[in-house]
Amino acid sequence: MAEPPATVTLTIDGRAVTVARGTTVWHAAQQAGIDIPIFCYLDRMPPLGACRQCFVRVEKMPRLQTSCTLVAEEGMVVSASTPDVRAAQERNLEFLLINHPLDCPICDKGGECPLQDQTFAYGPGRSATSPSRSRWDRCWCWTASAAFSAGAACGSARSSPAMMR
Ligand code: SF4
Ligand code: FES
Repeated sequence: MAEPPATVTLTIDGRAVTVARGTTVWHAAQQAGIDIPIFCYLDRMPPLGACRQCFVRVEKMPRLQTSCTLVAEEGMVVSASTPDVRAAQERNLEFLLINHPLDCPICDKGGECPLQDQTFAYGPGRSATSPSRSRWDRCWCWTASAAFSAGAACGSARSSPAMMR
């Protein structure tokens, strides 16, 4: 039986991109210069598909798909910026932020924080809620927590209870 071609060509937001077979849609988008926000995906781990931040619309698929877990197929037509994808990104960020402490002004991670960056780039611009926010002994966001577990400096870690209000 003939070997399948080593590459596949798909279209993302109207841009054709050819990638190695087995490449995820998220990596294909990176190759095409298209940014799709991610949180739970890390290069050194298998994809989890947990945070749902990397949603895309794929032609002929009924629901939004997580691009970090979806393997690119020949002829796939992907949209990463349609109104429903943008709305899902906004809703998801709102959901992630709803129990996040409002500590950015005193957080060492401020200014180099993926959650801040993505909220700025993909967030709804204003909160739909106005509750008092939870306080945590350290940031729970996946990227920061994973860096912390790996021994890297995590600016959002709080070692002193006095830092907590
Ligand atoms: S980790 Fe720190 S800077 Fe980032 S969103 Fe949380 S409190 Fe703000
Ligand atoms: S980056 Fe979290 S589901 Fe894709």
